[in-house]
Amino acid sequence: MEGLRLNAPAYVKNARLLAWVAEIATLTEAKDVYWCDGSQEEYDRLCQQLVDAGTFKRLNPAKRANSFLACSDPSDVARVEDRTFICSEKKEDAGPTNNWMAPAEMRGLLQTGDKALFKGAMRGRTLYVIPFSMGPIGSPIAHIGVELSDSPYVAVNMRIMTRMGRAVVELLGTDGEFVPCVHTVGAPLADGQADVAWPCNPTTKYIVHYPETREIWSYGSGYGGNALLGKKCFALRIASTMGRDQGWLAEHMLILGVTSPAGKKYHVAAAFPSACGKTNFAMLIPPQSLNGWKVTTIGDDIAWIKPHADGRLYAINPEAGYFGVAPGTNFKTNPNCMQSLGRDVIFTNVALTDDGDVWWEGMDGEPPAHAIDWQGKDWTPQIAKETGAKAAHPNARFTVAATNNPALDPAWDDASGVAIDAFIFGGRRSTTVPLVTEARNWMEGVYMAATMGSETTAAAFGAQGVVRRDPFAMLPFCGYNMSDYFQHWLDMEQRLEATGHTLPKIFCVNWFRKGADGKFVWPGYGDNMRVLKWMIERVEGQAQGEEHFFGISPRYDDLEWAGLDFSREQFAGIIDASPAAWREELKLHDELFTQLAYHLPQALKDTKARIETHLAD
Ligand code: OXD
Ligand code: MN
Repeated sequence: MEGLRLNAPAYVKNARLLAWVAEIATLTEAKDVYWCDGSQEEYDRLCQQLVDAGTFKRLNPAKRANSFLACSDPSDVARVEDRTFICSEKKEDAGPTNNWMAPAEMRGLLQTGDKALFKGAMRGRTLYVIPFSMGPIGSPIAHIGVELSDSPYVAVNMRIMTRMGRAVVELLGTDGEFVPCVHTVGAPLADGQADVAWPCNPTTKYIVHYPETREIWSYGSGYGGNALLGKKCFALRIASTMGRDQGWLAEHMLILGVTSPAGKKYHVAAAFPSACGKTNFAMLIPPQSLNGWKVTTIGDDIAWIKPHADGRLYAINPEAGYFGVAPGTNFKTNPNCMQSLGRDVIFTNVALTDDGDVWWEGMDGEPPAHAIDWQGKDWTPQIAKETGAKAAHPNARFTVAATNNPALDPAWDDASGVAIDAFIFGGRRSTTVPLVTEARNWMEGVYMAATMGSETTAAAFGAQGVVRRDPFAMLPFCGYNMSDYFQHWLDMEQRLEATGHTLPKIFCVNWFRKGADGKFVWPGYGDNMRVLKWMIERVEGQAQGEEHFFGISPRYDDLEWAGLDFSREQFAGIIDASPAAWREELKLHDELFTQLAYHLPQALKDTKARIETHLAD
């Protein structure tokens, strides 16, 4: 752009990076360019700038030190899956579960056409250059991205969520590889036009991935996974295609460490759909009666997993912070999380109390007598009763550094990652799926994960509470054809065995069975330790279980019940896999397999046929 200064610091030596920043600044007609160095001083300065702009409110420092509240535009509150595109060269490579557009057509819309959306999109705004590492800087499992965004809110969130700043640019050197991520809120400012507190484009949004060239382009939203491009866009959609090409796994999984009373340490990676309690599970505190056990957090949302020369699969958490759902978080559901939220937090779309603190539905204690809700309106318990108004948006979030977590695993930042002993897959199902089942082999585990279903939540726009198939909890996050992804998982078995690797065990869980009264039967939260203990003891070859038509589940006496009043009858109600219900369930698997027919692995069809035969007997 005429007269635009790139402002690159002397430590930027990467020619491709410099040329690309110049190209995007020109395309978007950004007012100026700012290179984030990732320092505390910079973070504090940008936060103050956001306060001055009205985007942030500084919370009462006596209650939440150095913490802020942002409230978004009501049109911009969640990931927009219907506006998310995988633009592979061939439509079949995006598969039937992703929106697709030909790359040339999408580039026309976004970059090259007469009315291309990114042309002039940053007018009147600063372009922030945000270099970030997904994973410990320099780790052989980590990868680098650079996000160019016109949102300072994104810049400060990325500092919490990733390893961000100068050290990453230095690691890039002159010719290091990075994934380019372009983001605009899609709200250019005319000369003299005043800005709003939450700029976004209320009508036009595009979250676009080009898997072949490994690029991300995001237009129109400033919220969460639409805008913090390291998370879902890079660490899942683009990384899953990198994993396919390079022989590793990028998964929607928490990672936790479990230490047994004997002092043995295990690591588990667990996939659950959005808003099914991954953060709670990753920070679990075992009940008093099981207090010889200890759980520590490595990650709460995403795992990158690569085979290691020692014959195990090693995982890192590519993120450095938690972007968790606030409503429902309290000292019972997640005490470690509540303790993490005492300072240095960015809250988005929760309510503001009269004493300058935050509140959300499901927080401990009495609701405040008065608060300002996430849309800036007065809120009282009476108003809530009369109108159903929520003080916090159901998808309200906190952004907080992992280092705030009192249960953080000492190895969370280890460049080599941690060796995985078990995979867990879980959905939110009020019926049908037992509390826990162990797959008898890799194939059976892949089948369980591939056919997983879950009732939808507020994390994505759209109807809530309907069961949708969510294979591997990756439905909205897989960057390529889901059937090819299944094949990639199946291929891992042979690839790993051929190189002398030990395969982790695979389990399937469901914390969410409901009784006839419509209430959850299983207490969940800390008591999930009882199930985790059984799984670890299975890994150790200690615990017993009973075989049924699709795996092995514990009997009542196989679990530890000390300190919990839970009857055999209650247990029977959540562990059973009723053949009648499963015949219906398999019809839904049929629907999924019909949808995914192109490239669907034969092995999955055979497994289904085997289960059907068992059910018919
Ligand atoms: C998330 C999600 O934000 O899965 O982690 O939606
Ligand atoms: Mn998630």
